[in-house]
Amino acid sequence: MRILSVVGARPNFMKLAPVDRELVKRGAEHVIVHTGQHYDPEMSNAFFEELWIPAPDHHLGVGSGTHAQQTAGVMQRLEPILGQRRPDVVLVYGDVNSTLAAALVAAKLGLRVGHVEAGLRSGDWTMPEEINRVVTDRLSDLLFMPSRDAGDNLVAEGIPADRLHFVGNVMIDTLCWALPQAVALDAPARQGVAGRPYAVVTLHRPSNVDDPSVLRELLEALGRLAERVAVRFAVHPRTRARIDTLGFRPAGEADLRLVEPLGYLEMLGLVAGAHLVVTDSGGLQEETTFLGVPCLTVRANTERPITCTHGTNRLVLPRRDVILAAAERAIARRSPARPVIERWDGRAAARIAEVLCDGASLDETPVAAVPRARQASAFAAALSER
Ligand code: UD1
Repeated sequence: MRILSVVGARPNFMKLAPVDRELVKRGAEHVIVHTGQHYDPEMSNAFFEELWIPAPDHHLGVGSGTHAQQTAGVMQRLEPILGQRRPDVVLVYGDVNSTLAAALVAAKLGLRVGHVEAGLRSGDWTMPEEINRVVTDRLSDLLFMPSRDAGDNLVAEGIPADRLHFVGNVMIDTLCWALPQAVALDAPARQGVAGRPYAVVTLHRPSNVDDPSVLRELLEALGRLAERVAVRFAVHPRTRARIDTLGFRPAGEADLRLVEPLGYLEMLGLVAGAHLVVTDSGGLQEETTFLGVPCLTVRANTERPITCTHGTNRLVLPRRDVILAAAERAIARRSPARPVIERWDGRAAARIAEVLCDGASLDETPVAAVPRARQASAFAAALSER
């Protein structure tokens, strides 16, 4: 059995790590291709090292560019490798440009495509990730879903039920594997917040950082929040460039530090001890839910509604007053009990490997247990932080 995984951007790497371990454990040949979409050491190499992912067998060196350039670059450079390796299955992860590009090439070569983290939908067609998700799922033969609502979405789009496998969340596999090491790093002390309440921030979506007036409003909100609790903002490279252009400086009394992107373990350790997370990341919505840390997601929608309906996540608009009021409420309502979500149990990658290597079928109950009407009302509640 030869499986070839294609990854390219930061959120792909933590999804790959547990799948690689499980495939190798079962004796499968696992070829890893890195597209090079992310290339800064702290956005790429650091994750391979910390998560014990073997060095990629192929590196495509695609780098940054417009969406078309990036997607086309991956496609052109991947095609000969797939032709030469002829894997039994090509695995793609998440919703980044590398995911879509790889799925397109593999499908056109007649190779079977497996999509890890299939079926998530925000319904927001302005997000490049939504286009990547929908098209990748349409091209996939094996759809590995993190939650039951994903099955509901896929069935509604006419994807045959026998392609669906409700395996659980591979991000949580990695979290469970890494948490003891992450806590041992003592990230709060390294970031100067040990023993104090603090918030962790990440923001990189175009909708939040590309418009200078939105970005300024967000930075002012963080500055005000930092008068109440310490704030550590791990700044993505695209956000850094835009903040530099704005020339933002926090007020003197605010404990707001803008730091470089953090490695996986340091970020996890910091988040695990936080009173609050403010983010637009997909993965952090899930990680905070699993850890029971309140999370404000600065977006109008989410492809991960289960983190709002069953977890600690709330959606907020990018407005200073909204964020500050929601932050107060979130800190106050923190519960000591961690949410429990079905199959977010550290065994998702093992289930994927069972499907791939042993022909297991995990499609027994593909349709979401949560009816759409209930999802919609939960969405309305989540959006009430407006
Ligand atoms: C990509 C994903 C997004 C994911 C995010 C996580 C797409 C469409 N978007 O967004 O879903 O949440 O990764 O980080 O695939 N840059 C660097 N160094 C790097 C990588 C990027 O400086 O190692 C800068 C470059 O200026 C680049 C910009 O960041 O143009 C954007 O990078 P890109 O890979 O296009 O998208 P992300 O914003 O990282």
